[in-house]
Amino acid sequence: MTRPTKVEVTEVGPRDGLQAEPRFVETEIKIQLVNDLIDAGVPRIEFSSFVSPRAVPQLADVAEVFEGIDRSGSTVLAALVPNAKGAVRAVDAGVHEIIVFLSASESHNKKNVNRSVEESLVGFEEVARIAAESSIPVQGVIATAFGCPFEGDVPIEQLGRIAQHYSKLGFKGIGLGDTTGMATPPIVRRAVKYLQDTLPELPIGLHFHNTRGLGLVNVMAGLDEGIDQFDASFGGIGGCPFAPKATGNICTEDLVYMLHEMNIDTGVNLQALITIATQVETIVGHNLPGQVMKAGPRLDLHSMTSVATAQG
Ligand code: COA
Ligand code: ZN
Repeated sequence: MTRPTKVEVTEVGPRDGLQAEPRFVETEIKIQLVNDLIDAGVPRIEFSSFVSPRAVPQLADVAEVFEGIDRSGSTVLAALVPNAKGAVRAVDAGVHEIIVFLSASESHNKKNVNRSVEESLVGFEEVARIAAESSIPVQGVIATAFGCPFEGDVPIEQLGRIAQHYSKLGFKGIGLGDTTGMATPPIVRRAVKYLQDTLPELPIGLHFHNTRGLGLVNVMAGLDEGIDQFDASFGGIGGCPFAPKATGNICTEDLVYMLHEMNIDTGVNLQALITIATQVETIVGHNLPGQVMKAGPRLDLHSMTSVATAQG
């Protein structure tokens, strides 16, 4: 496989990031963040979730957020949906894309959406029908795709079975989610190759969390297998409230910085992303793990007077 020359970056911070914050972020602030991401040239944004407001109160204002976003441009505004009720709400709001999700492992699916994997899959048939009636594309995400914090390794045949189901439902593509950062480069390569072999027509996106520091290394493994869709969050904020030890996604600025240094085009303005991540840090009131937002790109040089000279 050759590496892609262009990558579609999906910003998931407003959803994966803000769902994990203990404090509710005001609707107006969420809208401003999404609008800033649009201005920065981000091609696709997971702006929120149509899930139960009791399960994730941080995102209860999803419809108001969508209403307030500047929708005049070409940025794809996608929302997470767990069931038919969520699909109806998403269609009523007029989102550009629906992202359905289940976990590859039974125990995490039960924790996250209170269903068996089979029950989720059956429910997605109705989601697919509701979305198709309004010509809204659906992406099917498989969470805990590279390992489950309760069950350990996930058999790739399970990924194949779910992906097959997604394909039959007419989904536009699949996303493999590494919910608690259990992926490693060999695991990523093996899963991606297996799915490319069994379902060559189904585009694959990768969603990594940097929980064990392997986020960008896993992106490299994905790029080497020809993957050109990656999720990331501003400042590296994020984590699933229904998985133990879950921490943030790979960081959007760090990902975009790396891709640009590799001459891989994203269409995103790195400097604008750094400004947004710095604002997010102020909004949530704690340090974020992003690194380029702190150090700047490598050729952001410094005056020699900015540090002391070592004197022995
Ligand atoms: N949007 C809004 N409300 C919803 C909903 C949706 N998509 N789906 C269900 N509800 C409401 C129901 O109307 C019902 O409300 P009521 O008690 O006032 O009548 C209540 O939630 C319970 O419905 P039920 O279908 O029995 O859901 P549940 O309790 O089994 O929970 C989910 C299932 C999927 C709704 C819930 O687990 C959930 O929202 N999970 C999301 C988890 C998540 O976002 N994780 C992070 C992403 S990885
Ligand atoms: Zn995630």
